[in-house]
Amino acid sequence: TGYITYDPGFVNTGSTSSAITYIDGDAGILRYRGYPIEQLAQNSNFIEVSYLLIYGELPTKDQLEDFTQKINRHTLLHEDLKRFFDGFPRDAHPMPVLSSAVSALSTFYQDSLNPFDEPNVELSTVRLLAKVPTLAAYAYKKSIGQPFLYPDNSLGLVENFLRMTFGLPAEPYEIDPDVAKALDLLFILHADHEQNCSTSTVRLVGSSEANLFASISAGIMALFGPLHGGANSAVLEMLQGIKADGGDVAKFVERVKNKEKGVRLMGFGHRVYKNYDPRAKIIKKTADQILSKLGNDELLDIAKTLEETALSDDYFIERKLYPNVDFYTGLIYRALGFPTQYFTVLFALGRLPGWIAHWREMITDPQTKIGRPRQIYTGEKERDYTPITER
Ligand code: CMC
Repeated sequence: TGYITYDPGFVNTGSTSSAITYIDGDAGILRYRGYPIEQLAQNSNFIEVSYLLIYGELPTKDQLEDFTQKINRHTLLHEDLKRFFDGFPRDAHPMPVLSSAVSALSTFYQDSLNPFDEPNVELSTVRLLAKVPTLAAYAYKKSIGQPFLYPDNSLGLVENFLRMTFGLPAEPYEIDPDVAKALDLLFILHADHEQNCSTSTVRLVGSSEANLFASISAGIMALFGPLHGGANSAVLEMLQGIKADGGDVAKFVERVKNKEKGVRLMGFGHRVYKNYDPRAKIIKKTADQILSKLGNDELLDIAKTLEETALSDDYFIERKLYPNVDFYTGLIYRALGFPTQYFTVLFALGRLPGWIAHWREMITDPQTKIGRPRQIYTGEKERDYTPITER
């Protein structure tokens, strides 16, 4: 079978070519379809960025209106799908709940799952963009025992999601435009990041010609892990731990440097960025703005001290460890009223258009083959079977 390259974690292995997102890790550059993330964060919005990632160009006014209308038409869930939520325990983590619900979507639309049928792929795309926020809001409502709210399609995607999450029936829910704007920005910043663990998962599952819902459901589970999307919750737990321990940042940093088992500086380090994560720069400003508006947070002070301490410490300098996108997001999500274990769901909402864009690029790429890595076998050489009485 010839020569096999050994590259655990795919540190040097390109698994695909892609025209969606460009990252220069040394220079701290991130671009979606050629547009710098800073410009998109400043001028665009999440729906427009979703369109850009999936279709390759910024939409015209008509295209954007059409896209928005299509999404609005599909925000409702089938009433039977809502009953799935009854089966989960009340304290169920919302990530597996979301993944299961997305997986279940493939049972509701069985006649439109052919991955090579363009109109059906288009329909699945719109259904996912429209229904995942509804599913995510219901996962939250389930956890606090409140009734589900039907979507209100006169609202924008983010506003609708906020209302379904925090609103109550028969009570007007006032949307704070600053909160909606902050969440929209966070979704833009999370919308794609080339071949990260969850996106690679979506592509790998999809390479077996599994449908879009099945592939995205797998991606959500890859995002669940604390080294990937779960890091945003883990950062907040880390900050709370430091606070409970008397706020001694130096002591915590020592534990990280001593490589105590399970102790990492969460929200620091990145496989690709070895300079600065450009998303973290944008987020830090937003964290300051939103927290000063919604009530400053003692944890923000701990985070700032932690960042300063780490950035001037040789351990982190030598290893090129800088704050990543998730270092400050948890603080913002908390200020917006989301519980800690829900943070990763917000990451999933943001990453959804990126996953869809990659799945579609993969399925239409003539170079795509089923993903099937090789291995270096390290087990026993051939040996003879011994009957159970002789073992
Ligand atoms: N705290 C302490 N040490 C670290 C950290 C950290 N956060 N990250 C890396 N290191 C050390 C690591 O121990 C190793 O040291 P040594 O060379 O002495 O063995 C060196 O830096 C290289 O680390 P690595 O684990 O080989 O790097 P990687 O590219 O495989 O891992 C990472 C990247 C993001 C998984 C890792 O930096 C990490 O675990 N960070 C904390 C979790 C986190 O914030 N994840 C979110 C990433 S951004 C959003 C996303 O992708 O979801």
